[in-house]
Amino acid sequence: MTRVFSGIQPTGGVHLGNYLGAVRYWVEDQRDGETFYCVVDLHALTVPRDPAELCRQTRGMATLLLAAGLDPEACNLFVQSHVPEHTGLAWLLECTASMGELARMTQFKDKAAKGGEEAARVGLFTYPTLMAADILLYQATHVPVGEDQRQHLELTRDLAGRFNHRYGEVFTVPEPAIPPAGRGARIMDLQEPTRKMSKSGGSDQGMIGLFDDPAVVERKISRAVTDAESGPDAVRFDPDAKPGVSNLLQILAAATGADPAEVAGAYRRYGDLKAATAAAVVEMLRPLRAAYQDLEADPAGVDRVLRRGAERAGPVAAATLARAREAIGLLPPGTAYQS
Ligand code: TRP
Repeated sequence: MTRVFSGIQPTGGVHLGNYLGAVRYWVEDQRDGETFYCVVDLHALTVPRDPAELCRQTRGMATLLLAAGLDPEACNLFVQSHVPEHTGLAWLLECTASMGELARMTQFKDKAAKGGEEAARVGLFTYPTLMAADILLYQATHVPVGEDQRQHLELTRDLAGRFNHRYGEVFTVPEPAIPPAGRGARIMDLQEPTRKMSKSGGSDQGMIGLFDDPAVVERKISRAVTDAESGPDAVRFDPDAKPGVSNLLQILAAATGADPAEVAGAYRRYGDLKAATAAAVVEMLRPLRAAYQDLEADPAGVDRVLRRGAERAGPVAAATLARAREAIGLLPPGTAYQS
């Protein structure tokens, strides 16, 4: 039986890249085995966040995931901080990981470089041990993540193996999540199609927000950077030579469930490709927007779903943490009172 765990940070501007690269697969796979999907609010604290906004965006992310089609009866959707075992296990893993291996994490190096390593929060440094705790608490066998999280996943496997070796078999070592063929569409910035669509760094024009108005979606796509080639087969899928056009094909294909190379055959002019891509994206996002509005009107309902999710996740996490604590030599609570 597969156990899936994945996490997503609460951020305001969820964009098409997040949706097509991650959220959509959570929805598609939610009934494959047992699935735990987590809004990782504790990870958000590794960089400066406005408290009121963090709180709002945590519920907002859960609302979005439900709007995208997560069914709380089929999967376990919860908020990381509602299950205190995550930080409990993170400490044991901090005492398993070495300074050297955490210092090699490229995400830490990149993020710390922005504000200076001296000023970086300690939590930014230990971030991967908290992520490992997320995964290992649920004995996850599969962890669907993007390419940028691969190094953290490798670390998780190393820590699980090391812990098991030192203290006895406690953790399932998760499979590295290699996206199956045709999956893991990397959506690029519309203005700079050689970099990934992202909220940090890119321009607003390069990114399609999930809640952008249809007119805005159309405008951004119509202005997407392409290239100067014309001719009968200018529209073709070739990410290296034609990053802009290939990105549009990728988006169109992902939105219509087709293959980017095949989709290319239907178009000769960039203008037509852009119009078709915009229409497909608007169509794809329409039901999501509508569902979001309905759910947003009932925040207490969303909170109830999250509470139920935490009630189901909690005991699984607690059982693993109890085993890990005992294995590492912590005195089980209660023993002192037994006569
Ligand atoms: N670090 C992941 C990201 O930024 C989010 C995350 C936290 C996660 N814990 C996780 C993903 C556990 C998978 C499994 O995308």
